[in-house]
Amino acid sequence: MAKYVLVSGGAGYIGSHVTVELLNAGYEVIVADNMSNCDETCYEGVKKITGRADLPLIKMDFCDLEATRKLFKEHQIDAVIHFAAFKAVGESVAEPLKYYKNNLESFVNVITAAHENGGCNILFSSSATVYGEPEKLPVTEKSPRQPATSPYGETKQISEDILSACVKAYTTDGIIKGIALRYFNPIGAHPSALIGELPRGVPNNLVPFITQTAIGKRECLSIFGNDYPTPDGTCLRDYIDVVDLAKAHVAAVSRMLDGKMEESYEVFNVGTGRPVSVLELVNSFEKVNNVKLNYRFTDRRAGDVMSVYADPSLANEKLGWKAERSIDETLESAWKWEKSLAGKE
Ligand code: WQD
Repeated sequence: MAKYVLVSGGAGYIGSHVTVELLNAGYEVIVADNMSNCDETCYEGVKKITGRADLPLIKMDFCDLEATRKLFKEHQIDAVIHFAAFKAVGESVAEPLKYYKNNLESFVNVITAAHENGGCNILFSSSATVYGEPEKLPVTEKSPRQPATSPYGETKQISEDILSACVKAYTTDGIIKGIALRYFNPIGAHPSALIGELPRGVPNNLVPFITQTAIGKRECLSIFGNDYPTPDGTCLRDYIDVVDLAKAHVAAVSRMLDGKMEESYEVFNVGTGRPVSVLELVNSFEKVNNVKLNYRFTDRRAGDVMSVYADPSLANEKLGWKAERSIDETLESAWKWEKSLAGKE
C-alpha cells in the first residue's frame, strides 16, 4: 500500500525538489501551497520530471485551521513535510509580526489537525541558523543553539520547540513523531533545469545573486567582507545541493514510516561537512561555467556569521544519507536553471 506524504509549501524551491524525490522513491505526494511566494513553474516542472500529470496541487493556507482540518480529514496522510513559511531574514526584521504569525500559526495548525486526526509523522524544515555563530566547528546536533538574530531564525527555533513539546506531551497516545532537519546553505537546481529557485525581487542569497549577475540582470555582485579571519578573508559556509537535500527528506520520511526512529523526536544536520568560502564559490562558478563574473568587495553584511559548517555524521549514520553532488555540479545546475529562466536554453 502506498504511503502518502503531505508536502506543505510543496510548490516552492525546496518543496518541489523534495516532491520529485518522494515520487521517485514510490511515495504518493499531496502538494499544498498558498502560492504566496511562488507561481506554478516548479509544480509544472515536477509533473514533467516525474511524468505525473495527475499530481494534485491544493491551493490553501495553513494559517486557516478549518482548511487544514479539512485536508487531514479528506486525505490519507502518513507523514507531513512542513515547508510552508516565509524565509527572508531581512524582511523578518522589518516585519516581525508577519513572520511570527505566518510561520508559527501554520505549523501549530498542522500539528493540531494531525493530532485531532489520530496523529502523524511530522518532518520540520529547520535551519542551521539555530546555531548562530558557533563556538566550535564543525557543528554537531549537540552544539548549543544560540539566541536567534532575526525573527525568521526565531520562528525556526520556536517551531523546533513546538514539535518537540508536542511529541513529548502526546507521547501517551504516541501519535505524533517528529524530525527536524537543520539545513545549511541549500543551493543549485534540478539537473533537468525544470525546477529551481525563483527569488522575487533582488536576491538576498549568494547563488541567485551570482547567477543573476552572470546573466546580466544585476550589474555587480558585492562580496560582503574580505577581512574575516578565514583563509581568504571571506565567510565560510556549507553549501548543500538541493537535490542532495531533497534526498535527505526521503531518508527521514522512510525512517519515520518504517518505524526506525530511536527517539520520538530527532534532529539531524543536513550539510556536506565541507566549508567553502564566498570567494572559492565565485571562482568555481566562473571556472565550471566558463563565465566572467563582475564582483567587488564591500563592507561586511550586518548579522552575518563568519563560519558555519556541519558535522553531518549523524545523518550519514542514522539516515543512511550522504551529500553526493560536487560543488561544481551544483553550480553548473544553478547556471543551467538561470539560463533556462532567461529562455537561453
Ligand atoms: C552566504 C554567504 C554572505 C549575498 C541565509 C539565512 C539562512 C538560510 C540561508 C534561508 C555569506 C555572502 C551573500 C551577496 C555575499 N535561510 N554573500 N554577497 O546568510 O549564510 O544564510 O540563507 O531561507 O537561515 O540566514 O546565506 O546566501 O545570504 O550568504 O557576499 O550578495 O554569501 O555574506 O557569507 P546565509 P546567504
